[in-house]
Amino acid sequence: MGSYRDFAARLAREAGSFLKGRFETAHDITYKGEIDLVTEADRASEALLIARIEEAFPGHGIMAEETRSAAAKKEFTWIIDPLDGTTNYAHHYPVFCVSIALQRGDEVITGAICNPMLDELFVAEKGGGAYLNGQRLAVSRTAVLTRSLLATGFPYDIRVNPDNNINYFSALAVRAQAIRRAGAAALDLAYVAAGRFDGFWELKLHPWDTASGCLMVTEAGGEVTDLFGGPFTLHSPHILATNGRIHEAMSEVLRGTDPLDVRMKTL
Ligand code: IPD
Ligand code: CA
Ligand code: CA
Repeated sequence: MGSYRDFAARLAREAGSFLKGRFETAHDITYKGEIDLVTEADRASEALLIARIEEAFPGHGIMAEETRSAAAKKEFTWIIDPLDGTTNYAHHYPVFCVSIALQRGDEVITGAICNPMLDELFVAEKGGGAYLNGQRLAVSRTAVLTRSLLATGFPYDIRVNPDNNINYFSALAVRAQAIRRAGAAALDLAYVAAGRFDGFWELKLHPWDTASGCLMVTEAGGEVTDLFGGPFTLHSPHILATNGRIHEAMSEVLRGTDPLDVRMKTL
C-alpha cells in the first residue's frame, strides 16, 4: 500500500507547486453560483492530477470536483480536490491546498494534502498513522471546549438556505476559546490531525473536501462523526472532527442547537 501513499504524496506536491507558481498571477474567474467560483488554476490542476492518475493506474476510478463529481464505482477510486480554498486563491489569500485520497471499496486507504505556501505535506495511510513532512502526527490533548480552538466554514448557499451554519456558529462561538474560518476544509481537517485545531465542523461538504482529511484525523488519534455523533460517511450532510476529548461536548452543543434558529434572514 506504501506505493499508493508515495504516489499520492508526490502528486499532491506536484499539483501544489503548480498552484504556488500561478498564485501571484491574475486569475481567470468564472462562477458556478452566486459566490461559488472556479479559476483556471482549479481546472489546470485537476487536468494534471487526472492525467497522472490515468497514466499510473488506468484501471482505477477518479472522482474530481470540477469535471468528474459523480465517479463510476471501481474497486479503487481516487478522490481529488485540485484546489481546496478557491475563494482564498482567487483573492491571493495564501491559504489553500491540494487534497488527494484513494478509496478501496468504501474505505479510504491513503491520503495526501499539500499546502505549498508553507511547504507542508500531510500524508496518512489506513493503520499506518498520519505524518507532516515525515513527522508523526497526534491530535491535541485539549479536554474542554472553553480552551479549544475550533474551525468551521459556511456553505455556498449561505444566502438562500437558512440551514447555513450560522446557528451552530453562534452556539459554539460563545463556548469555545476561539473559532477560525480559514476557507479550506481539507486543510482544517489536516490541522485537527496536527493538533493545531481541537475541533472542526461543517455542513454540506463533498467527498473531495473530506476524504483525505478524515483519514488524517483518525490516524492521528482523533474522532470523526456527523454533527450529532452518528456515523460519518463521505456523503453525510455534515461532519464533526475533533481530538476525541472534546467530541461529546461539541456534539452536545450542536444537538442542543435549534436547526431553525436562524439569526440571519436569507436575501
Ligand atoms: C470549499 C472550502 C471551504 C468550505 C466550502 C468548500 P473549494 O472548497 O473547503 O473552506 O467552507 O464548503 O466547498 O470550493 O474551495 O474547493
Ligand atoms: Ca473543496
Ligand atoms: Ca476545489
